[in-house]
Amino acid sequence: MDFIYFLGRFHVLVLHIPIGIVVALFALEWAARKEKYRYLAAASPFLWGAAAISALLTVLFGYMHFAEGGFDGASASNHRLFGTVLAVLITGVAFLRISKFAPNYAPLFFPASAVALLLAAITGHYGGNLTHGSTYLVEYAPQPLRSIAGLGPRRPPVTDLAMADPFLDVVGPMLRERCGSCHNDDKQQGELNLATHAAVMRGGETGSVVTAGRPEVSELLRRITLPKDDEAFMPAEGKTPLTDRQVRIIEWWISVGAPHETTMAEVEVPPEIEALLRAELGLDS
Ligand code: HEC
Repeated sequence: MDFIYFLGRFHVLVLHIPIGIVVALFALEWAARKEKYRYLAAASPFLWGAAAISALLTVLFGYMHFAEGGFDGASASNHRLFGTVLAVLITGVAFLRISKFAPNYAPLFFPASAVALLLAAITGHYGGNLTHGSTYLVEYAPQPLRSIAGLGPRRPPVTDLAMADPFLDVVGPMLRERCGSCHNDDKQQGELNLATHAAVMRGGETGSVVTAGRPEVSELLRRITLPKDDEAFMPAEGKTPLTDRQVRIIEWWISVGAPHETTMAEVEVPPEIEALLRAELGLDS
């Protein structure tokens, strides 16, 4: 199985090849309709064939990658569906384009390339959701766009520590930045989502990961304080770890009961933690 997973990870690399070819195909089929660029049509069968082979390989690697598990949400099934349909469509058209019947279907190839491009964009969008979480793209978008994506107003930068929310302004953003690529609404490695307070408290495949008031038994804290070369250290795969300061803040946050929807003024903040929080939020200047 390990070897399948090994190959599967090449999916995220190989997928760029059919995307590039589909874009080129669309441009070529569009231009070749004009007298001046008619000669480009000679490259069309070759390009459709290359698109088909690379798309089929990408889909094959994709299914291998999927076998690793952790891809459960709607984005994962949509990504798989659109990607598979795209590869089947391209392969069908490629056979037609290369066959001796191609001249009979000449008017079809430009619209087919447009459909392929559209499907590639949709597939890519759902794929992006898997790697970055579905709110990644619109995180910094103007509010009307964020609202369409179901996001509320962005939290204004903290200017007064006493008014900051311990989770929404401090711990949540740290987890989103350092853990979000593997533990988000769409991709839940270890069946763990760290995107919201409720999800953090729900825990993962081995149960709860944060025990309010008890950092010493909280799996999340254990994972981020292991030696960095430990298999179970988080973030996995050598991703940029939390800083010592952030780890210390998370430990404190768990010890005071993992609070959220409150303000710092309502929780117990010892002076040394206050200093760490000020530094973390850039309130020192
Ligand atoms: C590159 C992907 C990746 C990143 C980034 C990542 N994790 Fe994980 N995480 C995993 C995988 C894979 C598992 C399941 C295997 C395991 O338990 O070690 C996991 C499991 C966990 C578990 C155990 C869940 C359970 O119930 O068994 C915790 C806790 C955890 N991660 C916390 C974190 C934290 C905190 C961060 C950010 C500092 C983080 N992870 C970043 C991939 C990642």
